[in-house]
Amino acid sequence: MDYGAFVIVTGIQEELGLKVVASIGGPDDKAIFKKYDVTVEKQVEEIVAFAIAKNSAQLEGKVAIITGAASGIGEATAKVFVENGAFVVVADIQEELGLKVVASIGGPDHKAIFKKCDVTVEKQVEEVVAFAIEKYGTLDIMYSNAGIMGSMESILDIDMEKGFDRIMAINLRGSAICIKHAARAMVKRQVKGSIICTASTSSVQGGQGPLAYRTSKHGLVGLVRAAASELGKHGIRVNCVSPHMVITPLAISTMSAMGIEDQSAIEAIASSESNLKGVILKAKHVAEAALFLASDESSFVSGHNLVIDGGVTVR
Ligand SMILES: NC(=O)c1ccc[n+]([C@@H]2O[C@H](COP(=O)([O-])OP(=O)(O)OC[C@H]3O[C@@H](n4cnc5c(N)ncnc54)[C@H](O)[C@@H]3O)[C@@H](O)[C@H]2O)c1
Repeated sequence: MDYGAFVIVTGIQEELGLKVVASIGGPDDKAIFKKYDVTVEKQVEEIVAFAIAKNSAQLEGKVAIITGAASGIGEATAKVFVENGAFVVVADIQEELGLKVVASIGGPDHKAIFKKCDVTVEKQVEEVVAFAIEKYGTLDIMYSNAGIMGSMESILDIDMEKGFDRIMAINLRGSAICIKHAARAMVKRQVKGSIICTASTSSVQGGQGPLAYRTSKHGLVGLVRAAASELGKHGIRVNCVSPHMVITPLAISTMSAMGIEDQSAIEAIASSESNLKGVILKAKHVAEAALFLASDESSFVSGHNLVIDGGVTVR
């Protein structure tokens, strides 16, 4: 301990073990107690896994909000963030699903909590930020991920209100609201936080398909760059992740509207477009990119659009 190590104090005497931890752990929690009996092989195995997990946790003690975390990419990221030591507020309009995500990842330390939030309603986003701070004490990471594909209409016949404005309200304006309120809380508390948005390969390509969606994702990259420029002086980083097609409810409903129902057919289409073969993009890959941008490992990366596409956009 005196030489800077993190120590896991182990044994069957819990009360004594906790006393040792209290006396040597210090303000950085450099010691932790874990009960185990050396005669039980499974417990020894567990303690080794616990030590490895603690050692590799990239977000230990950080507090994150993830919007759209009841499903798909947001759900996968909530899991990866908790596995890496973060406390996560799962923010979504889908309460039942959100609570299921929390139940599956929160664990006995209550490292995840659900808060209903529609990102189109500024007051609700403000409340989620206040909720995270009230529950977990601060806010280090905002992952603005909620989004919809929405209308598939062309520019020739798009419904400007139900098609265009609705997508902009969620995908673009919703992210602006998330960045605004997260950054205000971070500036107030002098937290050098990380803000991430989910854009898409649609943010850097034209091409056929959902015009309003592509427009919103191009706009999102502009928003991220402008916010990164403004917030850099506060030590706050703002970046995007831009995945290509990933199997999630969003992708499945989009493709089924085009008559393609089978998940393996959808994945085959997605991988036929990338020049990297032998890997199929999964929500977990996007979560791992978000983890990098959330963690100190990307501490000099800001205003960046991290494309996760197996080379689709460089073909
Ligand atoms: N799946 C893909 O192929 C793909 C590719 C590139 C980018 N993206 C982007 O990834 C993000 C996540 O999408 P996904 O694929 O995981 O889809 P998903 O449908 O599984 O998840 C989206 C989540 O956002 C929530 N949501 C929708 N509107 C909301 C609102 N107004 N307020 C709060 N939450 C709301 C939904 O309830 C849902 O839980 C989106 O921004 C999407 O545009 C997805």
